Amino acid sequence: MSNTGHKKNSEYQKGGHLVLIGFMGSGKTSIGRSLSYKLKRAFYDTDKMIEEREGITISEIFKTKGEKYFRELETQVLREIRDDKIPRIYSLGGGTPVSLQNQPLIKTIGTVVYLRLQPEEVWERLKGDTTRPLLQCEDPLAKIRSLMKLRSPAYERCADIIIDNGSKERDDVIKEILEELQNRGWEIPPESYKPSTDADNTENKE
Ligand code: S3P
Repeated sequence: MSNTGHKKNSEYQKGGHLVLIGFMGSGKTSIGRSLSYKLKRAFYDTDKMIEEREGITISEIFKTKGEKYFRELETQVLREIRDDKIPRIYSLGGGTPVSLQNQPLIKTIGTVVYLRLQPEEVWERLKGDTTRPLLQCEDPLAKIRSLMKLRSPAYERCADIIIDNGSKERDDVIKEILEELQNRGWEIPPESYKPSTDADNTENKE
């Protein structure tokens, strides 16, 4: 136990999933899809899982049922992932690691990769986006800055691996992640290190 009262990541019994976390727009879905192809594992985005179950978009959930309801769904999905024993790749919504009850769940689910971006880089990627309810405000960049400041410690606490994903080519980011996983004893198919092709955008289906 660290002197902040938090358990260190090494003290958690890790499950076999690969979990991608990070701020909105940090590339979790696109990196997740490529990793799915390369590691031959199915990929799931928890936002999509929630949308499919509820039958409406995240924006509509926020609007009609409220953020609190959405956050409860996130925790419920995390519990299901924890009990899912087939190793998969999961990308979590940008706010999921913030809740104190979610953090131990995330850390036990599997190996957690935090895709880190600077606020200005997020803004560059999400300018004009209308699908993130939290950024539909007067000054989205200020909102990104304040949310990021608040959330960064949570992301760092959950992460086993931190990758800066701002200005790098996607292939380099993937290579870094694969190397980090290999260093942790993961078996990485040698062909995974080859540069991406269009097919790498197609995740494995079950
Ligand atoms: C949110 C991030 C979104 C989605 C919801 C709330 C957040 O997911 O879960 O809009 O609180 O940061 P992405 O990180 O996939 O955009």
